[in-house]
Amino acid sequence: MANDRKKPERRSDVPKHIAIILDGNGRWAKKRGLPRTAGHAVGSENFRKIALYCRDIGVDYLTVYAFSTENWKRPQDEVKTIMRLLNRYLHEAIDTMERDRMKMKVFGDVSGLPESLQTLVAQTNEISRRYEGFQANICLNYGGRAELVQAAQRYAEAYAAGEVTQPLTEETFSDYLYSAGIPDPDLLIRPGGEQRISNFLLWQCAYAEFYFTDVLWPDFSPEELEKAIAVYQSRDRRFGGVKA
Ligand code: FPP
Repeated sequence: MANDRKKPERRSDVPKHIAIILDGNGRWAKKRGLPRTAGHAVGSENFRKIALYCRDIGVDYLTVYAFSTENWKRPQDEVKTIMRLLNRYLHEAIDTMERDRMKMKVFGDVSGLPESLQTLVAQTNEISRRYEGFQANICLNYGGRAELVQAAQRYAEAYAAGEVTQPLTEETFSDYLYSAGIPDPDLLIRPGGEQRISNFLLWQCAYAEFYFTDVLWPDFSPEELEKAIAVYQSRDRRFGGVKA
């Protein structure tokens, strides 16, 4: 089982792409009499830990829902703290991602983020272009429906301009999404006790296996991830077909 100091074996039986809705930071803090923002700080550290664990066991992509287009409605100081944590995370990532062999991509409307964050996102994109390896996708100012509408608009514009002539297919439509070129998630995990998708990767999760747990995100350890992977491995994925 996982041990922080011992590098786990890289395995071939793990999902290639795992998606996680980071939920439960606020409740985790409340249970300890701490401000909600303390939960986000621990949640952000936990993202680093789980991402490195995923990389080590052979997952190719990890996509997390960190800030939705609806999360701006939260109290100002909470939004500010989340932006500050993201700033800090990306700053640190710029120094370590190449060493850690961890590519990074942001899914979402980056133009709506504070300028300092936009600069950091551009820098991490640039660094990620230099090498191959495990990729973490962080959804920021992201909404699944908005992603679909934007993709449809971009296709329509390209078609009207004569830049594309071939008919629209599921494959070509996927090229207009933030996740272009990335395989769909095999496993979607939602910690925090809720059992809904909350406008996350609506197109990409068409055939994902869902795993829900009451464990709050800051407590979601590599052991919890292993439980989710074990459940995933026990599922019978038929993609609409029947078993041979
Ligand atoms: C949901 O928990 C969590 C968020 C809306 C913020 C997630 C952000 C981070 C973990 C910080 C930075 C992230 C990265 C990837 C570096 P909640 O506040 O809705 O929890 P609750 O349901 O218990 O209130």
